Amino acid sequence: METLDWKNLPFGYVKTDYNIRCYYRNGAWGRLEISSSEYITMHMAATCLHYGQEAFEGLKAFRGKDGRIRIFRWRDNAKRMHDTATGIKLAHVPEELFGEAVFSAVKMNEHFVPPYGTGASLYIRPLLIGSGAEIGVKPAKEYLFMVFVSPVGPYFKEGFRPVDIMISRNFDRAAPLGTGPYKVGGNYAASLSSLEMAHKHGFSTTLYLDPKEKKYVDEAGPANFFGIKNNCYITPSSKSILPSITNMSLQQLSRDMGMSVEQRPVPVEELPSFEEVGACGTAAVITPIRKIVDPEYNIIYDYCKDGNPGPVSASLYQRLIAIQCGDAPDVHNWVDII
Ligand code: PLP
Ligand code: COI
Repeated sequence: METLDWKNLPFGYVKTDYNIRCYYRNGAWGRLEISSSEYITMHMAATCLHYGQEAFEGLKAFRGKDGRIRIFRWRDNAKRMHDTATGIKLAHVPEELFGEAVFSAVKMNEHFVPPYGTGASLYIRPLLIGSGAEIGVKPAKEYLFMVFVSPVGPYFKEGFRPVDIMISRNFDRAAPLGTGPYKVGGNYAASLSSLEMAHKHGFSTTLYLDPKEKKYVDEAGPANFFGIKNNCYITPSSKSILPSITNMSLQQLSRDMGMSVEQRPVPVEELPSFEEVGACGTAAVITPIRKIVDPEYNIIYDYCKDGNPGPVSASLYQRLIAIQCGDAPDVHNWVDII
């Protein structure tokens, strides 16, 4: 294994030693298989290729000061993949199979789990694809479930530094009654044009509004949105956003800090009233937002004039990573040690 510069790892793909695979055929899942190939062969008429019948997940493993490896809330990812499978008619992956594959993938690539204190972690990517051949639009009869891993650093190159984002009204990542709450590849394909536009204008990502009325805040690229005001953590409830496990965790940590929590539609007009705003997700962790720019209306919402993350976002961030790395007690039972 080449020596990795753990402290400067980007959020990118790094080849590891093994991945785990399992095939669904004749109505049943087979045994887990270990592969050292980065490639899969599949039928050219596989439903994942033509009709987007695929789902993925993202979770992380962390190395603690004690050297042990901790996996964060994997059962919630298993549940979300189950919900996605229901949504787009994939074969369901049983929780035990999901867990076994995740644990094996981490264990088999143990030396890729970044050292404690580097800020890096091992990103775990479960993938479920319709591999059976169909030419009509219908669910596949065969599936491949696999898990691969990659050591990663921060998703936004700024790390825990405030980023600027822009409101996008010309693009939606999901339809009002579409696949927004599911983790399917099509939502990300739909986000690429708006993301490219945001990058071209110097923004880290896009802030999507609700696709039906464009009145409410939906989510911030590949991350949920939250705002802080009057000792309250406020985050959108919306049928077109991904239910973020990090967001659920931050809501609990906010309550632990004595704050109130509101999950409700967040009108765009409320944006100026927040004291702090941020994006949250497995990859994004907490990414504080410095400015939200609304180019169509020529408005700039400016949250951290001194350029630093707000105090509540900073506390939430510290508490979250302390639990993930084992520096704080895991009072909510979020962590499984390998
Ligand atoms: N929203 C979108 C669109 C995402 O892709 C992600 C990443 O998984 C999130 C939100 C954050 O979800 P989680 O905290 O479960 O990673
Ligand atoms: C995650 O946060 O796990 C994501 O999936 C975000 C992105 C890399 C798609």
